[in-house]
Amino acid sequence: MSKYVPKIIIHGGAINPDSGEFLEGIQKAILEGMKILKSGGNALDAVTEAIYTLEQNPIFNAGKGAWPNLKGEVELDAIIMDGKNLKAGAVAAVKNVKSPIKLARKIMEETDHILIVGSGAEELARAFGLFEQHKVPEERLKQWQDIKQNLMLGKDVPLMSYWKKISKWAKIGDTVGAVAMDKEGSVAAGTSSGGFPMKLPGRVGDVPLIGCSTYADNEAGGVSITGHGEVVMTYTLAKRIVDLMREGYSAKFATEWMVNYINELTAGKALLAVIAIDKNGNFGSARNTDKTPHAFMDETMNKPMFHFSKIITTQ
Ligand code: GLY
Repeated sequence: MSKYVPKIIIHGGAINPDSGEFLEGIQKAILEGMKILKSGGNALDAVTEAIYTLEQNPIFNAGKGAWPNLKGEVELDAIIMDGKNLKAGAVAAVKNVKSPIKLARKIMEETDHILIVGSGAEELARAFGLFEQHKVPEERLKQWQDIKQNLMLGKDVPLMSYWKKISKWAKIGDTVGAVAMDKEGSVAAGTSSGGFPMKLPGRVGDVPLIGCSTYADNEAGGVSITGHGEVVMTYTLAKRIVDLMREGYSAKFATEWMVNYINELTAGKALLAVIAIDKNGNFGSARNTDKTPHAFMDETMNKPMFHFSKIITTQ
């Protein structure tokens, strides 16, 4: 019998509500991932399927529900990483793709590259049968128009302060992600995002950059992060959390320590939520957000668990 218990942990954005349709969406996605693990499938397939399910749900800021940029165009970022061999695939600022996470996986498995951007990524989407003309859902379009109007009235600038402000009244989240461990003890992690709401056209966030939003290494563990991409990039957070786990710290310690550290460095201004599984199969998560929909589940549980992050008080 395998000494590893298959498991998965997922998140649905740093500041999305952790109730109602968001929790239902999270529950559906984690069960899709768990189904694969329970039937003996690998961590990579579980992560792909969980994130794909979130991408197809228009309430999350990834895939179908992604936030348009300042010009009203949707540019998508995604990454997937296999902890067994450190292979990764990623897309950035790609416009018309059915599933950014599936395209990232194709790049990992079918090319010699890690990151493909923009029109090149769209061409690959066509080649792999993943092209889909993006249509912004009605509700998202309405939210975008409201925020744009506020911005034009000078109400919500600069960027960080307006994000915090609008988070009080708009259903704005960023990013979805998953980390899984399979029965072989192999770890995979992935993240997918529409990026920062109202981002400048061409802006690429932390998501597709290896070691920033995402990292996986069987010798240490796997991580996916949601939050303010520029901060996550600056501190290459996912790799640093994985390196803590490599040194023997648990996923719980590593995630909590790093969120506390960044929270102090940025005086609580950078919103951040982190999920992880360490090489020993322990879950960990931490956030300085008020709410982040997320869940974890292992093969022995008959339903997912929610709300287990430590809340770090900001200021
Ligand atoms: N963390 C997602 C982004 O900033 O693009």
